[in-house]
Amino acid sequence: MKLQTLQDLLVHELKDLYSAETQLVKALPKMVRAATNDALKAGFEEHLEETKNHVTRLDQIAKSFDCKLTGRRCKAMEGLIEEGGELISEDAEDAVRDAGLIGAAQRVEHYEIAGYGTARALAACLGFDEAVRLLSETLDEEKAADEKLTELAENTINVEAAEMAMAE
Ligand SMILES: [Fe+2]
Ligand SMILES: [Fe+2]
Repeated sequence: MKLQTLQDLLVHELKDLYSAETQLVKALPKMVRAATNDALKAGFEEHLEETKNHVTRLDQIAKSFDCKLTGRRCKAMEGLIEEGGELISEDAEDAVRDAGLIGAAQRVEHYEIAGYGTARALAACLGFDEAVRLLSETLDEEKAADEKLTELAENTINVEAAEMAMAE
């Protein structure tokens, strides 16, 4: 389909996000299982619930646009999840793996932040106020998830992993 209008591009972006989010709903339980640190595990669990809600919000937008968001595969998210999976299968010390999982998860969050930022800008330009509101809600949750991961890494998990190496 030719992208004729800015609205076509917006739908294109939303399809990409829809695929990314639905892939994440399947991938996050594996991150929960792979994480050792309780706070990290809980963080992934919480973001899994938020992610399900991100899919719901995209469904709501699709309904208001009377379009379907299925049928497109986000290859970037596929690659990010694949790399996360590779890390999970590495033979690693628990705290070191946790530190790596945070890096993998933050790559995902940054991809989502870029995608939602773009979609929201397009929706704002086109005057779709309700879509802007819904996309902002998700964008804020992605940013909060990212910040939480940074905090967890810098205050706890990286420190633990570093101390472990010194103890050896
Ligand atoms: Fe999301
Ligand atoms: Fe996310």
